[in-house]
Amino acid sequence: NKVVLAYSGGLDTSVILKWLQETYACEVVTFTADLGQGEEVEPARAKARTLGVKEIYIEDLREEFVRDFVFPMFRANAIYEGEYLLGTSIARPLIAKRLVEIANQTGADAVSHGATGKGNDQVRFELGAYALKPGIKVIAPWREWDLTSRERLLAYAEQHAIPIERHGKKSPYSMDANLLHISYEGGILEDPWAEAEESMWRWSVAPEQAPDQPVYIELSFAQGDVVALDGEAMSPATVLATLNKIGGAHGIGRLDIVENRYVGMKSRGCYETPGGTILLKAHRAIESITLDREAAHLKDELMPRYASLIYNGYWWSPERRMLQSMIDASQAPVNGVVRLKLYKGNVSVVGRKSDDSLFDASIATFEDDAGAYDQKDAAGFIKLNALRMRIAAARGRSA
Ligand code: ARG
Ligand code: SIN
Repeated sequence: NKVVLAYSGGLDTSVILKWLQETYACEVVTFTADLGQGEEVEPARAKARTLGVKEIYIEDLREEFVRDFVFPMFRANAIYEGEYLLGTSIARPLIAKRLVEIANQTGADAVSHGATGKGNDQVRFELGAYALKPGIKVIAPWREWDLTSRERLLAYAEQHAIPIERHGKKSPYSMDANLLHISYEGGILEDPWAEAEESMWRWSVAPEQAPDQPVYIELSFAQGDVVALDGEAMSPATVLATLNKIGGAHGIGRLDIVENRYVGMKSRGCYETPGGTILLKAHRAIESITLDREAAHLKDELMPRYASLIYNGYWWSPERRMLQSMIDASQAPVNGVVRLKLYKGNVSVVGRKSDDSLFDASIATFEDDAGAYDQKDAAGFIKLNALRMRIAAARGRSA
């Protein structure tokens, strides 16, 4: 028997690798993905080889991640609990998909991951795996083993000659990064009153340290997706990486929240999502001139539901696909350019234009208009809308 492990090359997943070989006497296939986390993935090859792995998959999934997961999610303007841009949540379905595909290719009957038994990630990986391969076996070492403390984990690593890198300070936080965001949990953040220290933030400067001069950018959209920055065509991953740099330099996209995990607990997390924060603002701005009012409002009503589906790990569910096809269909006219001003942590929309714009200055104008809108029509419109309230009021029911 064979198991495909989502392997970062770090200490924890290296211990998992060894533990799988020992506990299940199985062959381990490793899968390491570059999702734009900003760390080299190639070193995972040598490490896996040292640990006796024969089939090693190392893949650059940055474009696929942004094109097929991040962008579709942004078409919905998805935000969880009013704040969280779902940076970790949206990466898990892609990893689940690749784990299953590699299992199929290598004849493995199981997949494994390094998520703890307390969080959302285990749910996302495993719901994805089951949805894509009903008979798959899942091994979640953190739910099975007795290496429940850092000490025991380190002792196990030492016993099994797993290299423990001591260069550099180990971060006191549980972190996860990809092209959309970097997250921090645990450590002092477990006290929701304690402010994160400035040195924790890795992708952005503090707004008060940001340049005193604003920067202006223009984002071009085609069918709801960004296709160019300042008139220059860019691939999805390149746009997002570039926006992360510009946004980070202007202190954009920091977030500190307490969120409700699917497994039931509240959890405090800090996030940096500079590019995503800009993207969301820009997408709403281009929708504001190109979408019909009721279409836009319907999207907004369904958005929290869609966001929860992603947060809770249901990317590969029929209901998410249903919503997606509706959202995607709405984006046909979402084309045009948005001009934004970035300044000390703020993203302000300062202009928007589109060949598909529904904004009609000749109708909206406070000046004399050409006759498409007759102000006299408004009297009847208001009176009929008031009818039921007038009837109720006449029966003494107005208060
Ligand atoms: N709380 C966030 C979420 O559920 C981030 C999780 C971070 N995961 C991690 N393995 N550090 O999406
Ligand atoms: C973990 O438990 O592995 C990280 C946090 C989460 O998944 O919510």
